Amino acid sequence: MNPDAGRLRLIGVSGSLRRGSYNAALLRAAAAMLPADVDMTIGSIRGIPLYDADVEADPGPPAAVTGLRDAIARADGLLLVTPEYNNSIPGVFKNAIDWLSSPAKEADRAFGGRPVAIIGASSGGFGTILAQSAWLPVLRALGAQHWSGGRLMVSRAGEKFDASGTLVDRAVADQLTDFLQGFAQFVRATKGAPEGAPDGR
Ligand code: FNR
Repeated sequence: MNPDAGRLRLIGVSGSLRRGSYNAALLRAAAAMLPADVDMTIGSIRGIPLYDADVEADPGPPAAVTGLRDAIARADGLLLVTPEYNNSIPGVFKNAIDWLSSPAKEADRAFGGRPVAIIGASSGGFGTILAQSAWLPVLRALGAQHWSGGRLMVSRAGEKFDASGTLVDRAVADQLTDFLQGFAQFVRATKGAPEGAPDGR
């Protein structure tokens, strides 16, 4: 009997390269409060250059792209942790997803039918609500299955994390726990496998 049977494998990706990123901190917090039987790999967009179709053609996509794409393709579900810049998706994050989504065959391998949830943290008062909305048409274009059953927007993030990047706000921690529980249920349902059943993917 495979002890991993029935476990969910999620991957989370933060869209900020900043050392003290609130979004990276939120992703670490999420990875530390997963439901039982759920694992999470932390993926990274670091090292992904600006998209260039000529580079993609020759010498081919960089290892930072192929490695992250393979990790997403192996996962049962993807958690995007998005900052918000100018009321929308930060360019570095969108650029990374653009790399991952070309060519179309590779986009389908990584994102086609894949359950995706979006959360985010910002220093402002609306907690990435506009960036999260801006992701929706992108996810639709990629053929991903967006989980719309929960929202998690961490506003005034400077008050919710301590100087070391630890989530210290009880209410946000509770919301995150509920969010992850709901997303895990959604991912499990899309796999079509009952609790504890062998991986059907
Ligand atoms: C921001 N920030 C921001 N915040 C917000 O809530 N709405 C916004 O539209 C913007 N716009 C914006 C533009 C640019 C160019 C920068 C650099 C910043 C603030 C942003 O939420 C803050 O810098 C966060 O700390 C970014 O996330 P990380 O890097 O902490 O994960």
